[in-house]
Amino acid sequence: MNYVGEITGVGSFLPPKAVTNFDLEKLLNTNDEWIQQRTGIVKRHWVENNVSTSDLAYEASIEAIKNAGISNTDIDMIIFATLSPDHDFPGTGCFLQAKLEVPNITVLDIRQQCSGFLYGLSIADKFIRTGEHKNILLVGAEIHSKGLDKTPEGRDVSVLFGDGAGAVVISAKEATGDSSQSQIISCALHADGSFAKELWLPGPGNAFNSDSRCSKEMIDEGLHYPKMNGRNVFIHAVKRMAETLSQTLAKNKLKIDDVDLFLFHQANIRINEKVAEVMQIPADKIFNTIQDYGNTTAATIPIGMNDAIKAGKLKKGMTVGMAAFGSGFTWASGVLRY
Ligand code: UT7
Repeated sequence: MNYVGEITGVGSFLPPKAVTNFDLEKLLNTNDEWIQQRTGIVKRHWVENNVSTSDLAYEASIEAIKNAGISNTDIDMIIFATLSPDHDFPGTGCFLQAKLEVPNITVLDIRQQCSGFLYGLSIADKFIRTGEHKNILLVGAEIHSKGLDKTPEGRDVSVLFGDGAGAVVISAKEATGDSSQSQIISCALHADGSFAKELWLPGPGNAFNSDSRCSKEMIDEGLHYPKMNGRNVFIHAVKRMAETLSQTLAKNKLKIDDVDLFLFHQANIRINEKVAEVMQIPADKIFNTIQDYGNTTAATIPIGMNDAIKAGKLKKGMTVGMAAFGSGFTWASGVLRY
């Protein structure tokens, strides 16, 4: 029997505390006008101290599983994408698994940063098509707020990021051969590690001439805060997102007109506007959430998917185009029929 993977349930969770640009003015040497004009962000959500990444993931997962009309115990694999795990090891997928009370199933943690959700979607699609798994829970979840430099020195990075989680259930369906069948149609995954230090978190880590992966010197130098060459990331993001999505559409003989909705990674509204300009995508076909949530990295696309469903912008049978770009550099695109 041949199987395809259909997204049968979507969920998301944003921690209740909203942090506006005006709130950040009090911490960083920044202002609402700069942030809105350069990024499109108005506010983001940050967790309280007692909340972990797997806590956010749990809430999003419960909603996705409920919307799929199944029980936790019907899930036979978890794929967890995050760059901000609960702990260095084991992966946050195992902590989520324990919270969901689904022992003995396959759990796979992946990184891939802002492209994490699309990498996970492609992996899930392959596992489904082998017939080995029936219901895969794919989660993207991040807590950035605990890792940001909240002093004026960190302003270029710290205004951009928010906390949140998004989840989808991908279920195996017998392939009918009908082109209108709901399914993950195609994904393309890319990386270029020669740009790894353009957006990265140096410490803690083993690539230091030190007998400790976490030293006081490292912290004194601020190596535990993310570093970014924003302008270079911006230029490559526009180029690569447009390139990979154009290739994926062409490979599947789809034109812009055939796509009902575009869900792009949410790093900067200007990146998405440029991609739209290059690809000649009408603005009303792109669903952005960055204004409310900032950049939630691996969680941006599933959060956007859930908001689009709730807003009536994403309905069953629609064709969706997706693209993401981020640290690594990694980038990816995908097309699905919802
Ligand atoms: O998910 C993937 C990861 N990230 C991205 O995709 C981010 C890609 N990059 C970007 O989105 C943009 O490069 C940023 C939003 C990060 C920065 O925008 P920009 O237009 O490239 O600004 P810039 O870095 O060229 O800085 C312009 C000015 C500088 O001042 P001077 O040198 O012109 O006097 C900065 O010091 O803005 C200053 N600046 C700020 N001012 C107020 C930098 N950050 C801030 C801030 N508030 N938060």
